[in-house]
This record gives sequence, C-alpha cells and structure tokens, in this order.
Amino acid sequence: MIIINEDFYELNGDFNYHYFGENIYVSTPQTIFNLNSLYSSVLSLINENISIESIYKYICNDYKLDEKDNEVIQAFNNIITELNTKNIIKIKNNNKYFNNILFTGKKHKYYPKLILIELTNQCNFTCPHCYKEANNKKNIFIDENRLYQFFSKLDNKVEHIELSGGEATLHPNINNIIRHLKKYTKHISLLTNGSNISKLDDDVLKILSDIQITLYGYNSNSYYNFTNNKTSYDDVIKGLDIIEKKHVPIIVAIMLNKQNFSFIDKYIDIIKNYTLKDLRFGMAMPFGRALSEDFKGKYNLSKEDINYVNNELEKYINNSYNKIETHHIRYSTLLRTENEYSLKCGAGKNIIIIGQDCMIRPCNMLPEDLFKVCSIEEYFDIINKGFIYDFSQNIYDFEKKLITLNLTLEDIKCTGFCDIEV
Ligand SMILES: C[S@@+](CC[C@H](N)C(=O)[O-])C[C@H]1O[C@@H](n2cnc3c(N)ncnc32)[C@H](O)[C@@H]1O
Ligand code: SF4
Repeated sequence: MIIINEDFYELNGDFNYHYFGENIYVSTPQTIFNLNSLYSSVLSLINENISIESIYKYICNDYKLDEKDNEVIQAFNNIITELNTKNIIKIKNNNKYFNNILFTGKKHKYYPKLILIELTNQCNFTCPHCYKEANNKKNIFIDENRLYQFFSKLDNKVEHIELSGGEATLHPNINNIIRHLKKYTKHISLLTNGSNISKLDDDVLKILSDIQITLYGYNSNSYYNFTNNKTSYDDVIKGLDIIEKKHVPIIVAIMLNKQNFSFIDKYIDIIKNYTLKDLRFGMAMPFGRALSEDFKGKYNLSKEDINYVNNELEKYINNSYNKIETHHIRYSTLLRTENEYSLKCGAGKNIIIIGQDCMIRPCNMLPEDLFKVCSIEEYFDIINKGFIYDFSQNIYDFEKKLITLNLTLEDIKCTGFCDIEV
C-alpha cells in the first residue's frame, strides 16, 4: 500500500492526455483509459507538480471528505496504485515520466480528441465496398481557409487529426494543408490508398505521425479487379517503398471479404517487406457501394473464415522478426447504447468528422445524408459554449431507413479502425 506522504509523482510522457468535460482520456499506444472526474483531478494535480499529501488534502476539501477517515485514505491509495499499475504515473525521477505535460482539450468543455477530415470525395480507385462511393468524377475539395480558421479557433485543443477522403492525396494543396495543420495538433495521420505517395514532399512526410495504407490486393490482377485502376498495384508498392525509406511509421489496413480472405498469406508476403507500426483488419459495412447487388453478401465472413485469418496471422506474428502491433479481427461493436439513441463508441463526441463540404458528422462510415448536421463554424459555437451535439434524432432516422433495407442497428457492426473500443 502507498502511504500518503510528501512524494511527488510524474506522468508517462509516451501517453496522450485529453480533457473531455470533467474526464480525461489517457491514450497509450495500445489502449484508451477514460478517467472519471476524481481520477482526472488527481492526475492534473500530479501534473502540476504537487505532492501526494497536498493532493490528498486538496481532494478531501474539494469532495468534502474526512481526511482522517481510513476508508477515504484507502480509496485514495487505490487511485494512486491503479494509476501507477497502468503506468500512467510513477514516482519522480523515472525516465520518460514528466510534470507539466500539455493536455489537449479543455476542462468542462467537449473538444474532440480526434478529428477526421475528408479532404475530397474524389478518388482514383472505385472499390466496390466504398461507403463514400468515391470515384474520379466527384470533385469537391475542402475549402482550406475555412479549415484553418476553424482550427485556429480550436487553438491546439485537438490531440489528433486524420486526413482521409476519398483519396486525400488528390487534394491539389495536400502538402500545404499538412504543413498548416501541424500548427494546431500533436499528431497528424494520413489514411490513403497509397497510390499517390510520390506527391508528398519530404518535409511533409516528416510531419506525419503515421500513414495508413489500405491494401486492396496482392498483385496487379487482384488490385485491378478490386480498384478498377490499372497501375494501382505498382503505384501502391512504390508508395510503400517511399514511406519505408523515409522512415514514416506505416500502418497497413486490409479489408477482408469473402473473395480475398483465403489469400491472406499473399498479403502477408507483401507486408513482410516493410516495418509496420500496426496491422489492422476491417470488413465492409453495408453502406454506399457495399450495398450494391454485386457486392452484397461478400462482406460478411463466417466465424470459421475469421478463425482462418487469425490463425494465418498468428503464424506470421510468431515467425516475424518485426515486433508489430497487430489488431486481430474484431467485429462486434453495436451502434446504439441499450436504451438510448447515442453511438456506443463515442463517435460524435470525442471523435468527429469534417466532410469535404466542411459539414460535421459523427462517424465517417454512417450515411452522409442522414448524419450531416451542421457546418464547422456552427459546431465550434456549440462546443465553445460547453455543449455537445446530440445525434439521437439522426440515429432514430437511420434506424427507420435500415428497416427499409431489411437491416437493423444490430447488423451494423464496426471493426473500430478509429481505436475506440467498446
Ligand atoms: C473511404 S477510405 C479513404 C481513405 C483511402 N482512400 C483508403 O481507401 O484507404 C477509408 C477507409 O474506409 C474503408 N472503407 C471503405 N468502405 C467501407 C465500408 N463500406 N465499410 C467499412 N470500411 C470501409 C476503406 O477500405 C479505407 O480503409
Ligand atoms: S475505399 Fe478509398 S480507395 Fe477505395 S474508392 Fe473509396 S476512397 Fe477510394
């Protein structure tokens, strides 16, 4: 048991800390802890370089607790022990642990931790599962100036920006957008099909925390069949080579379906050539082009199919010299909480999406027509007042629309690429 004394603690500098209302999200490279207001108060006081004894007194005063009560002492000790066991804090003078770490977000306000920006709805591929129905005829590119104004008002309160699309690299100003946005956040990730990496300048590659490339095949034929782009395979391999050479952390995402899952070993043959930060698997959700008669029924893998992929993966991990973070297939997240219309994963709260038209949505996968709620300017006013957007009506309308497609909310399962575990 930790005795309440004059010790000073510090916070793990490898983790990210984000205020959200009264809580703090602590993200480690592996997972996210959502600390309640009591834990959050303790954590922020530790960060202010205050001794454990003084923090204890401060908390007792704040929560009107009796300092001498043994149960209170025990409960406080438990909090310190738990934070310690989770490696969030350590006693002072530990390598990699610090005070005065800059937290993103703002106490009492609901600034999102992650914003995914769809820079365009255009794409050089036409994948049959694409929820965005992107293609090379679509041509909306985000208005950079509105974006910069929005982020300058947010003033570094967002921990992480993800750039996506369509194909984000097709935005004519992709390099400047990345340079500019870096002023406003700690991390920028790029989600791309990997075919246009040569367009990114060297200094821009250095800014990126990571690049996620979704692999849509394992040779020229399979790539062409899925993406309808003749040079796609060669372009993607070229892209992977560039980012490996420039030491940008690579995340590979593989979308599994009935047609490709048994070729997982061939995908592994490609990724073996690169140093991956993470390997993710997804399965198409029934949105956009994935709803077409042609693709219907191809996305759901059976339990046996999933076991097969997981076994192949296990062999690869066991034989691999690269220690990589691998997400085994998850496919279980329900969209709605038990008795209310809100997204169980927190989408729309700690994560929001900005579309190519500068409109806000809670999740990139959910249909734009039903979930586009307000402009970025209106959204800023809402969160700046300390409110949070209520998407319950949109979810209700979505449930009604699903019924017409013979689906229910229970059918909408998510593989959780956005790292929010439920
Ligand atoms: C819309 S894409 C944009 C980024 C880039 N063009 C790419 O394909 O990686 C973002 C991610 O969503 C995935 N995706 C597309 N349609 C999907 C669907 N119906 N269900 C689940 N994921 C989907 C893509 O495979 C990709 O990993
Ligand atoms: S999934 Fe990505 S690469 Fe495929 S069409 Fe959609 S935006 Fe393009």
